[in-house]
Amino acid sequence: MTTQTTALGLYGLGTMGSALALNILDNGFALHVANRTASVAEAFVTEAGPLADRLTTHPGLVEMARAMSAPRAIILMVPAGAPVDDAIADLVPVLAKGDAIIDAGNTDFHDTRRRTAEVEAKGLTYIGMGVSGGEEGARHGPSIMVGGTDAAYQGIRPVIEAIAAKFEGDHCADHLGPDGAGHFVKTVHNGIEYADMEMIAEVYGLMRHGQGRAPAQIGAVFQGWDKGALKSYLVEITGTVLQATDAATGKPAVDVILDRAGQKGTGRWTVIEALKLGQSASAIEAAVGARGWSAEKDARVAGETILGTIRSAVAISDREYQDALLAARIIAYAQGFRILAAASDEYQWSLDYARIAEIWRAGCIIRSALLDDISAAFRGDLPYGQLIFAPAFADRLRASIPALRRVVAAAVSAAHPVPALSASLAFIDTMAQGRGTTDLIQAQRDFFGRHGFERIGGAKDSHGPWWE
Ligand code: 6PG
Repeated sequence: MTTQTTALGLYGLGTMGSALALNILDNGFALHVANRTASVAEAFVTEAGPLADRLTTHPGLVEMARAMSAPRAIILMVPAGAPVDDAIADLVPVLAKGDAIIDAGNTDFHDTRRRTAEVEAKGLTYIGMGVSGGEEGARHGPSIMVGGTDAAYQGIRPVIEAIAAKFEGDHCADHLGPDGAGHFVKTVHNGIEYADMEMIAEVYGLMRHGQGRAPAQIGAVFQGWDKGALKSYLVEITGTVLQATDAATGKPAVDVILDRAGQKGTGRWTVIEALKLGQSASAIEAAVGARGWSAEKDARVAGETILGTIRSAVAISDREYQDALLAARIIAYAQGFRILAAASDEYQWSLDYARIAEIWRAGCIIRSALLDDISAAFRGDLPYGQLIFAPAFADRLRASIPALRRVVAAAVSAAHPVPALSASLAFIDTMAQGRGTTDLIQAQRDFFGRHGFERIGGAKDSHGPWWE
């Protein structure tokens, strides 16, 4: 068995919790587990099969903590929010200096910062850990984004590195910064995930509703793209999903699914934090908004008649779609990394963007062929801190933006909504113009509120002739 100095416990054996527990056991570590409903922990012994000889089950969280020998590290795999606070309240009186509480859920980083301060004031260690990769990742190797003190990380490092996904031998896990840094990076990961998913769905929409192609045909195109510049987990699963058939009806699986998207909050948090930091993650925001609008299914159905807009055919080649998606994906990553940079400055996290890109290369939902180059770009000289200006990306963008423009133009002319693709294009068009239109905004602000403006080559607080 792996040498283990810290006793490990895991609380919360839902889908993700049990998958992560099996992963830990699989890697040779002994593990204590408990669940809110005690019978679930007992049943987990059967699920663990031959791995159960390293497993100890307990009737509840407090019982588990009491039974473990110090130093203890307890991983919480419970829903974000009050369940985490409840678990901490139960654990704090039982644990002692040297013990660690690890929240491995999709937690709002503000909560992690608050909890870190509260728990560490009591002499315990607190770690906020973002885990990406869904059930499959948790079971066989997720990407893990750790926030906490360096000493805290060193205590759990052997386990984290062992259970993480590997990319060409490098573990996709690292300590990224103090307190909320890990959860913040995971939140932005999810924001990029939302944007990428929405852009893929928009291209699917054009192929489906603008060209009348069958889901399986479209799925085959995505499958082909997974061998090229768009190679990624999300493109791969899109190919698989679109080629699947619903057993009950014989219809394409996608056709029996209500077009109303759920969301648990991480995409929205990304946008909220971006705006608070003075950034605009417009592609991510468009994706969050699209999910919001999708929830208004009945109104949309009524809108078909009330508004009478009829979507029509588009003529776009698969090559154009592919290039458009590539450009838009680069922009989604670029906006995500800008938010990380703004937050790193604000909270003094000193995030290592190259390393973040590296630990996203395997295990997580947004893993893609671009991440190697993103990492290299951050290790090199990045003009104005903008990923889109790194030579490797500027070259790709110059080559692919014409296709993005054609796709957006065709979609808009034929009444197909492409909010994320068009937001990406607007961002790139803005960033490619030395002189924009906010001169007029400044003039208006000065006109109605004497806010002043910077005169070109002159005083920083000038006023217009309307005040003379
Ligand atoms: C991941 C996923 C995972 C989960 C999201 C989905 O990285 O493994 O992002 O965390 O699927 O919570 O979020 P929504 O339910 O908001 O789409």
